[in-house]
Amino acid sequence: MKRMRTQVGIVGAGPAGLVLSHLLHLSGIDSIVVENRSRDYVIGRVRAGVLEQGTVDLLVKNGLGERLLREGLRHGAIQLCFHGRRHRIDFDALTPGRAITVYGQNELVTDLIAARRASGRPVYFEVENVRVEDFDSDPRIRFRFENQEHEIACDFIAGCDGSHGVCRPSIPAETLRIFERDYPFAWLGILAAAAPSSDELVYALHERGFALFSMRSPSVTRLYLQCSPDEDVEAWSDERIWDELAARFENGDGWLPRRGAILQKGITGMRSVVVEPMRRGRLFLAGDAAHIVPPTGAKGLNLAVSDVSLLARAIAAYYHEGREDLLNTYSDECLRRVWRVQRFSGWMTSLLHRSSDEFDYRRQLAELDYVTSSRAAMTSLAENYTGL
Ligand code: APR
Ligand code: PHB
Repeated sequence: MKRMRTQVGIVGAGPAGLVLSHLLHLSGIDSIVVENRSRDYVIGRVRAGVLEQGTVDLLVKNGLGERLLREGLRHGAIQLCFHGRRHRIDFDALTPGRAITVYGQNELVTDLIAARRASGRPVYFEVENVRVEDFDSDPRIRFRFENQEHEIACDFIAGCDGSHGVCRPSIPAETLRIFERDYPFAWLGILAAAAPSSDELVYALHERGFALFSMRSPSVTRLYLQCSPDEDVEAWSDERIWDELAARFENGDGWLPRRGAILQKGITGMRSVVVEPMRRGRLFLAGDAAHIVPPTGAKGLNLAVSDVSLLARAIAAYYHEGREDLLNTYSDECLRRVWRVQRFSGWMTSLLHRSSDEFDYRRQLAELDYVTSSRAAMTSLAENYTGL
């Protein structure tokens, strides 16, 4: 058995765990990160890509802005497409100084792993059988690495291990409340080797269902189509996907996503989950380990970053000023934002997805009409979208 000691043991090297480890390092606080997947897997998986203004500001302020500011695509608006027309929600006019930045999670995680490496502090990839123990008193993380048992003794454990992790299930179930909602649709997402044909994201509601045009870089387009949760991805040939996208983005000016080779195809279900509280003793949950939002509105990654920025501040106040108040308010502070984001993501989802109910569809079109014509409604969308 190899024994180690650190101040904060972090489970999970996704955006939450890696940003936390970086912020702690900048405050002079030691941590060890353990991750059960490989480094290449963590970097390579296709996930989120839209950063709120507050997320960008936080990353830049903490020395992670170099490539982000150079390669990230700043967007001062999004578009809503319905009834055969595209409408702009102009963030630059509605929420001056606040925009979104398209920067793939792959790129962000690459930068974060490089920053971690530069800090000289450890990340263990490809660990097995992770357990978190004794977090009411004397926290330990145990795992297998290179065929040897390891144990980390620490002051705090950060459960940043996503929605299928081990931290949350290790908390006695009777001490948690879990709020959940399933949505009756899913997204078929593709990455295509095609230069984006618009500089702005386009969200569409069509009789045939929702579609979303997004991007990852000047040469890669990201697209999504509403489908049913039990859809078989094999049933979607490239041709069928492009034709369906063309139908759903139908609009008077003839704009369409540019076609290209499909590099990746996958189906993602949509769920809302909130775990309350986000803490048990010396174990703190952050990011997807504590909450999931439906992807409409692109909030998951931003929420994860917001959680860990509060957690890093609370842990720094504990070590540097002997204060526990921020640790004690961590969960409530996070949850306030989490529920506001659940509200917004749920609203965007119900606004833009097609059910079989014709009454609903007419109501959605009326709401889109309102949202694209009332300055008050547009401002509400813009301030939530760019980040509260
Ligand atoms: N032990 C160690 N690591 C684990 C374990 C475990 N038992 N279980 C899961 N992990 C790792 C996962 O492999 C993953 O790398 O924890 C990490 C969790 O990362 P994410 O799922 O990305 O969650 P989070 O960091 O909270 O970021 C949330 O990023 O991927 C998006 O959709 C997600 O937008 C959301 C945001
Ligand atoms: C994405 O680019 O992956 C994306 C963009 C906007 C969303 C969701 C996902 O609302």
